[in-house]
Amino acid sequence: MNKINILAIESSCDETSAAVCSNGKILSNRIATQAVHAEHGGVVPELASRAHMQHIVPVVDVALRQSGLQLEDLDAIAFTQAPGLIGSLLVGGQFAKSLSLALNKPLIAVNHMQAHVLANLIPDQKPAFPFLCLTVSGGHTQIVKCTRPTQLEMIGETVDDAAGEAFDKAAKLLGLPYPGGPLIDQYAKTGNPHRFQFPEPRVPGYDFSFSGLKTAILYFLRNAGTAQVYKEEFTATELERKRFIDENLNDICASVQSRIISILLKKLSKAAADLGIKDLCIAGGVSANSGLRKAFTELGKEKGWNTFIPDFQYCTDNAGMIAITGYYKYLENDFAGLDVPSMARGF
Ligand code: KG4
Ligand code: ZN
Repeated sequence: MNKINILAIESSCDETSAAVCSNGKILSNRIATQAVHAEHGGVVPELASRAHMQHIVPVVDVALRQSGLQLEDLDAIAFTQAPGLIGSLLVGGQFAKSLSLALNKPLIAVNHMQAHVLANLIPDQKPAFPFLCLTVSGGHTQIVKCTRPTQLEMIGETVDDAAGEAFDKAAKLLGLPYPGGPLIDQYAKTGNPHRFQFPEPRVPGYDFSFSGLKTAILYFLRNAGTAQVYKEEFTATELERKRFIDENLNDICASVQSRIISILLKKLSKAAADLGIKDLCIAGGVSANSGLRKAFTELGKEKGWNTFIPDFQYCTDNAGMIAITGYYKYLENDFAGLDVPSMARGF
């Protein structure tokens, strides 16, 4: 039987990406990162759409060439339909639809959050079903139960900020550029995670909350670490605060990161124990965090879990995960019409 070859496009936020997969094996995964947002302290939707317009043709071209396949070898075009920034989604969606129409090949609409989970099915060593996945990105924090590739059930989510947002907001308060998550990760490597204690939220079930942590960090920095972190007292001058951050950056980053990780893993452990599931995955941009990867693996050893973490290139936004999801949807003949709408929300 011929191999199933899928070209996938991801454009939900600020990465323009194209990938090709053949029978579930990724042949190429190209990502064009949009540097334009760094100076604005966050993603500017209008600039993101324009950058996608600039990048999409060359990125697809390189991904296809690197895969060694020709346009006529493709069996389907997969694209991120939802959720994300609507202007960004529309660029990838329109490109995918045009290509599908021109080649007369089926179109596959992929949910970005499902794709983050299924990034764990890219390597040869795959989790057994049902597995649990902690998906932690810039916009979402979820615990998902995956019974088969196309059947996912969300059992917990954040009630306010996402884990990635918590990293990025903490970084912003520390005067670090966007996206701050990877920088906190770097500084934390040589810091003491026990130096400062940030509060743990009380949220029922498998849900999460990170907005209180942001506020705690805000007050902590305003007070230059002198008062209790959750008390609103302004004692430090701007200069004192800056000096305090400079002198303690590594310890602050390590302490913030350690609290975010403990919040995440506590809920994941609870879900795994309650549901009796031993195959556990993490996914999404924050799963690139070295502290989370280490703590998750160590906890897994202690609890007797089989733990899975995507390769770095498949943690942050990428089309490889869209391609693998497209492949499983192809196997179920789950195709979309050319009129399928891009949607900002979903899952
Ligand atoms: O999945 P993703 O690329 O995009 C969304 O779908 O949101 O996730 C982006 C998020 C950002 O908040 C970024 O700061 C965070 O992932 N991130 C990290 C690391 N790498 C990316 N957070 C902590 N440590 C990292 N190494
Ligand atoms: Zn994402």
